[in-house]
Amino acid sequence: MAEAKRILVTGGAGFIGSAVVRHLVPQAGIEVLNLDKLTYAANLDSLRGVSGMAAYRFAEADIADSARVARIFTDFHPHAVMHLAAESHVDRSIDGPEDFIQSNVVGTYRLAQEALRYWRQLPHAEAEAFRFHHISTDEVFGELGATGIFTEDSPYRPNSPYAASKASADHIVRAWGRTYGLPVVLSNCSNNYGPYHFPEKLIPLVILKGLAGETIPVYGKGEQIRDWLFVEDHARALQLIVERGEVGESYNVGGGSERTNLQVVQGICDLLDRLRPRHDGSHRDLIGFVPDRPGHDFRYAIDYTHLENTLGWRPLESFESGLEKTVQWYLDNDWWWRPIVERHYAGQRLGLSKPEATAPN
Ligand code: NAD
Ligand code: TYD
Repeated sequence: MAEAKRILVTGGAGFIGSAVVRHLVPQAGIEVLNLDKLTYAANLDSLRGVSGMAAYRFAEADIADSARVARIFTDFHPHAVMHLAAESHVDRSIDGPEDFIQSNVVGTYRLAQEALRYWRQLPHAEAEAFRFHHISTDEVFGELGATGIFTEDSPYRPNSPYAASKASADHIVRAWGRTYGLPVVLSNCSNNYGPYHFPEKLIPLVILKGLAGETIPVYGKGEQIRDWLFVEDHARALQLIVERGEVGESYNVGGGSERTNLQVVQGICDLLDRLRPRHDGSHRDLIGFVPDRPGHDFRYAIDYTHLENTLGWRPLESFESGLEKTVQWYLDNDWWWRPIVERHYAGQRLGLSKPEATAPN
């Protein structure tokens, strides 16, 4: 029997990482090691369906801990790394950028450095086949106006501390490919949504605020536009990219579903009205316009034709079907989100850049 393909997934207890782990582990011939620091955003409950399987292993570790990461490389002997571990919330990066620089920039540097050390001592054929895949965001390209679309050749113009940290990580990974020959591949995707999404992000926040009958906060006038990608479509794309992507290439991944924030919020309200009606009016009555996010990017849009033309991927979920699945999932799975709301994050406003949060230590 052929040797299993061993994939080291960083950040596998997070939203997208857990979707990747759930996608890979049941497949014959794949073994996964999930390396995760278990920050506030992590949730091992998201892996209940696969964590008992023989093809799954977990290591609680920080990607910035070089000695620990080195041991994990030696012991697990991966054929590929899928690097998703990061601080991921723009609003938190506004309030406290330090963790973003530490995990996303320093952490990615240390992980790349350990991957390089490991890769350099592999036998030739294994070294040739090895891949280091960095999972990044379209936010590195900055914002678009009413027209235009991000391609792989768009210039980097990150605006938020989060985007700047991810842009730095992209540059580090690319440089480790170019300078040291580490076989890297990168992907930049749009806003993901779907089950197991931490409720600080727009879509799960709105669902839970709506269910609780609380004000649904729309930043500014809700005119900003995002492209929405169903997380399971993304997980499929990531497997294709790590297995068949060309070394040194970047791939944009998008959902082909641009919506204003207000359209997204109203869509969720309408689904809740149908699936879990309120006694005293529509969920739309809960919408409240609140002060805008500082530096708020106006629009993101992704051209994913490179991925479609080279690797044959396209999103299978429409925004309407994906959003309904997502709302239904939160209705059916309060065992997953209720402990988060009760113990970790109750939906308070983040990202207003309070001066004390950015003052020097
Ligand atoms: P998430 O915040 O849900 O999960 C991140 C995971 O990384 C958590 O489990 C956390 O514990 C872990 N982690 C953080 N710092 C770590 C460290 N120093 N060492 C080890 N583990 C650490 O994030 P997500 O939404 O799943 O995003 C995953 C990746 O995809 C990130 O790199 C993010 O920048 C990128 N991305 C996300 C989106 C999106 O819409 N969510 C869009 C584009 C790109
Ligand atoms: P978010 O989910 O934080 O993702 P990102 O900032 O990475 O795009 O936010 C999506 C959009 O929704 C963004 O334009 C900010 C807006 N937003 C609100 O209007 N209200 C909210 O409570 C949140 C969390 C976000």
